[in-house]
Formats: sequence, structure tokens, C-alpha cells
Amino acid sequence: MAEENGRTVGAVREPPPLREPPALDIHAVRSQVVGIDQQVPLLDGSWHPYINLDNAASTPALRPVFDRVNAFLPWYSSVHRGSGFKSQLATWAYEQAHEELLRFFGADPAEHVAALVRNSTEAINKLARRFPLGEGDVVLCSLMEHHSNDLPWRGRAHIQRIGITPLGTLDEDHLDHLLRRYAGRVRLVAVSGASNVTGYVNPIYRIAQKAHEVGAQLLVDGAQLVPHRRVDMGRLDDPAHIDYLAISGHKMYAPYGTGALIGRRDLFAQGDPDLVGGGAISLVTLTDVAWAPLPDKEEAGSPNVVGAVALAQAARCLEQIGMDALAEHEAMLTAHALERLREIDGLELYGDTNPNCCPVRVGVISFTAREMDHAKVAAVLSYEAGIGVRSGCFCAQPYIFGLLKVSAQEIADLRRDVAQGDFRRMPGMVRLSFGCYNTVEEVDIMARAIEHIVRGEYRGSYVQEADGRYHPEGLQVDWGRYF
Ligand SMILES: Cc1ncc(COP(=O)(O)O)c(C=O)c1O
Repeated sequence: MAEENGRTVGAVREPPPLREPPALDIHAVRSQVVGIDQQVPLLDGSWHPYINLDNAASTPALRPVFDRVNAFLPWYSSVHRGSGFKSQLATWAYEQAHEELLRFFGADPAEHVAALVRNSTEAINKLARRFPLGEGDVVLCSLMEHHSNDLPWRGRAHIQRIGITPLGTLDEDHLDHLLRRYAGRVRLVAVSGASNVTGYVNPIYRIAQKAHEVGAQLLVDGAQLVPHRRVDMGRLDDPAHIDYLAISGHKMYAPYGTGALIGRRDLFAQGDPDLVGGGAISLVTLTDVAWAPLPDKEEAGSPNVVGAVALAQAARCLEQIGMDALAEHEAMLTAHALERLREIDGLELYGDTNPNCCPVRVGVISFTAREMDHAKVAAVLSYEAGIGVRSGCFCAQPYIFGLLKVSAQEIADLRRDVAQGDFRRMPGMVRLSFGCYNTVEEVDIMARAIEHIVRGEYRGSYVQEADGRYHPEGLQVDWGRYF
């Protein structure tokens, strides 16, 4: 040890090289999920390993993502403006994350840019604010969209909605019709890559071609697609390229608060950013501003560097698992679940229930029980089987109301109810959604549990709250005891 300027300086040591995490593969991925088989208490006082069938909402963290974040935290520091060693390293990691994402999505950095945001909702809102739209311009979205790919477009353009078929798939003939009818006015087609209700995978490359043929661009809401399928942005001279893609890290095993909008560089090079402030500028005077180069221009404010590191690692993990192997595993789970659920009397499944359709859907299955409220089924699954699912409308009310054939009168009644804070009559479905780590055994446990529930074989006596949810009568959970 030496003394320098009053500071004790240790012997200079190069840190050992970071240990590469073991390569992931689809057969071993379950052991690499943080919180897997976490024991949860049931109503009868027993404890069971939690079965998470709510992956369409959020996926758990993968161990290599968690480890990478923890390895980064000692180096964490401010990015871009800091001069210290850690700042430079953090800046490098942050910039690297952008590059990795572009590579993961097959994007050419000369043509596309990755703007890191919080999630798909923010990504689509950003595009809606940045996309140049004028009087009479048309945006086509569809009747199967999540609210996050519908509401941002309202008031920005004349919206036309592509219809759905009786099975709930996108009606491509209607898309063709709208493209012809609004020829010269359609600026953007904004569709989900996969539905968060029925799991349908839309033919995004074919839609891209059709949009480009009439001079429009394509946004893919990739929230539900990218955790399950490879998505390739393509070169801009390829008629099937994707112009914009919105993604959420928390749906792709990186729940650290970062998502992204991958989008055309030429669009973001134009105009002012939607969010302005520090980090987005090169020069500011009292009268004008020169914007920073991309992507900084689109990322005003101090960014979520930890989230960026996590998202990039998640992309690496998905690549290692292999998107084809992952899709095959999830299609097998979905086919098995459909086979089991189709046998249960009293269930109504939505969308195509043919197990052979699984290659064109992701692992999302929605159903209703004829004799029981959707929220009650979900509650009993949780309290009596330790199974986490989602019930309700999954932020896709127009799609669900259509599939459930909710009448205009019922919607008018609902409007009155919800204005008074009463959600008890809200229609909805129960949704099961699989991740790459779920197993056939879990699907079987779920199917058996549902079978018992619809036969009325459950123990608790459930009461419904004004928010629509059900709880076992008199049960008070002290959440602070668990965390
Ligand atoms: C199809 C689809 N789009 C957009 C979103 C919004 O994602 P986020 O809540 O991460 O912004 C979701 C979320 O469930 C979704 O399923």
C-alpha cells in the first residue's frame, strides 16, 4: 500500500474477467427463473409452489438478467455527462444496450434507432406524438388492439379500425378494403404482433408489404410477440420491413422498468422530440436549441441504465434459448392446454380452439365459465390452487366486448356503474398465458383445478368487492408478513 496525496492507494489489480453465465437452453430454462416454485399460502393453510400463468402481463426475471444487473450495480453511475471511470463504463453499457437491441431485432443502425422508454405504452405514445400527421390523414389500427395501441392515436388522425373475423382473427380482406378506400391518405398501419386476449399472431410482414405498397408505414405493437417469436425489422428497401416496433422489458424476462421503441431514424431525425429537457440537446440558448444526435434526442432526462442493462441481457438470453425452440415449447403447452380445456363441460374458449393452430398463436388462452363470474374463477384458482392468472378485459375492452357480444345497452349500463365506482358487472374472461419455463405438469394442475371449480368443488365462500374482485369471506392477508 502506498500513500499518495493523503489517500491510501492499493496495488493496481485488474478485476477478474466476468464469468459468462452458463448458456441457457429451453430444457434448462426453468431453473434459471428467479422466484420459480416460490411457495405461497392457500386458503386451507397449506403452502404450494406458485404456478404463474400470467406471463402475458409480466414475466419473472431470468437469473442471468438478475445476475447481470447485480454485476453492474457496483459500476453504476451517471451516464453521458460524467467524466469518472464508472460514468464512462455506465455510458458504455447503456450505449451497448441500444446496439444489442438493434442487433436482436435485425435492425440496421443506419436506418433504425432504439429509443429506450418505460414500456410499450410509452413507446406507442412517443410514436403517436412524433409521427407527422395532418388534416385528413388516416391511421389504421384494428379491433383487436390493446388500449395502448388505440388510445394514443385518437385525436391524432382519422382512425379506421380493421375488423376481426368471427373467430377473432384480423380480417385481412377488410384491411385490403380500407387500404383501397383510403388510398393516398393512410399514413400508418398500427397493429399488434400478437393478441393479448386470443394469442393470435398477426402476419406482420405481409401487412408491412400491403402498407408499403400504398405509401404507408407500419407500427407493430410487439409487447406480446417479441417474448415468443423472432422479429426482424429488415432493411428499409425490403417491402416487408417493419418501420416501428414497441416492446416491454417486463414481458421479456427483464422487469427493470425499461422498454423500447425501435423506429426509423429518418423520422426521429426530423422535428422536435416529444419530451424535452436535459440530455436531449447539443446546445441551448435563450432563443433556440440544437438537438442532440439520436438516440439521445429522444431520451430526455436521466435514463434507466439498470433497465437498459437488463433488457439487453434478456435479449441475449432469448437468443441463447433460441426463439424457435421457445416457440415450439410454448406451442406444445398451448396445444396441450387447449386439449384439456376443451374437455371441460361448462367452459367457453375464445378464438380458435383447434390445437393445430398453435403455431399461429402465442401461449395465450382466454375463456369464460358459463356458471361463474370470470373474477371468481380467477380468485378460486389463486386462493385454492396457488395459480396466478388474469381476469377481466386485459386492457382490450372493444375486442373483448365484441367477442362476448356485449350489447350497446349493456355498455350503457356499465358506463353508469363504473361512474359510481361499481365494477361488479364488468364482463370479462379468464386468461391463461404461458412463458418459456412453464411445464405440462403445471398445465395439468391448472386444468384439474378449473374442472373442479366449474363443478362447484371449492371450499371458500367468496364475496365480490365493488372493484369486481372476489375474496374469501373474512380473509385478511397481512402482506407485510411476506415482504
Ligand atoms: C398487446 C399489448 N400491447 C401493449 C401492452 C402494454 O404494455 P405495457 O403495459 O408494458 O406498456 C400490452 C400489455 O399487456 C399488450 O399486451
